[in-house]
Amino acid sequence: STHSAHGGPEPTLSTEVDDPSHPLYHHRRIVTDFDYGDILGEGSYSTVLIGRDKRSGKQYAIKRLDKAHIVKNNKVKYVMIERDALSRMNHPGIVKLYWTYKDNRSLYFVLDMARNGELYTYIRRLAPFDFETTRFYAAEILLAIEHIHERGVIHRDIKPENILLDDAMHIKITDFGSAKIIDETDADDSSADDAAAARSFVGTAEYVSPELLKSDPVSKEADMWAFGCVIYQMLSGKSPFKAPTDYLIFQKIKNLEYTMPDDFPQTAKDIIQRLLTADPQQRLGSQALGGIQAIKDHPFFDGVDWENIFTSTAPPLK
Ligand code: ADE
Repeated sequence: STHSAHGGPEPTLSTEVDDPSHPLYHHRRIVTDFDYGDILGEGSYSTVLIGRDKRSGKQYAIKRLDKAHIVKNNKVKYVMIERDALSRMNHPGIVKLYWTYKDNRSLYFVLDMARNGELYTYIRRLAPFDFETTRFYAAEILLAIEHIHERGVIHRDIKPENILLDDAMHIKITDFGSAKIIDETDADDSSADDAAAARSFVGTAEYVSPELLKSDPVSKEADMWAFGCVIYQMLSGKSPFKAPTDYLIFQKIKNLEYTMPDDFPQTAKDIIQRLLTADPQQRLGSQALGGIQAIKDHPFFDGVDWENIFTSTAPPLK
């Protein structure tokens, strides 16, 4: 049998749920319950396909992960975290995980289909968004982040590529592959792991918080930083710390080197500046400064109907 570097047995790559009280226990599904169609997206370890439930006809986004590839690259732990984090979520602004199953080659996650794809595509095509539209999407994203944090998870990869849009143009946050589970039940909690993860950072550099670059412990406030970057991007069309290389992006982030366009509304300038604060304790939305409620109470969000936003009509993106 295989053994990992630290001498212990390799964790088994299994998605079995043996507990009848677990939300994924009921109505177990298998590969042949679905027809598979077009590819919606591809990552390094996974492919997202359209899947149609043969019984109900309902369409889902089915994430297929290659087991051999995951084991070979030591990503088993991250796949487990992604599944555990997703299965805690129950919110209109977050893709729901309905079932998981496997065959010899792959693991499968059956997710909500977000038919209109990535917010990123709309920003590329249509930004700058007007103030109303920016505020609407910012408010939905904030409610989704609030739920993620309430359920004991830090997303750690909030960016327009991971904010999907459903058929009514409401958001659904996806990709919990970088998430961290922060409550007491997390046996794997280790700041040594975080420091190691920070050193080996790969991916989109633009939304990374200064504390992650310093290998300081990353907390919920890292998602607030990324949220500030996304508001800036909707209003301007570009992310605040853009540069030709990751190294130069990191330099800009460390030096808090960004410019606020003159034409941003004053309340937008203010909320962005408070979210793009280097010290996580001083950042708007930090536990110390009143958490998510303090963000909702900022004048930028004056007039938002927080209770009904996900059942309201989305403003036109033109
Ligand atoms: N691409 C990746 N995940 C998706 C999803 N849940 N819905 C639509 N497209 C996607």
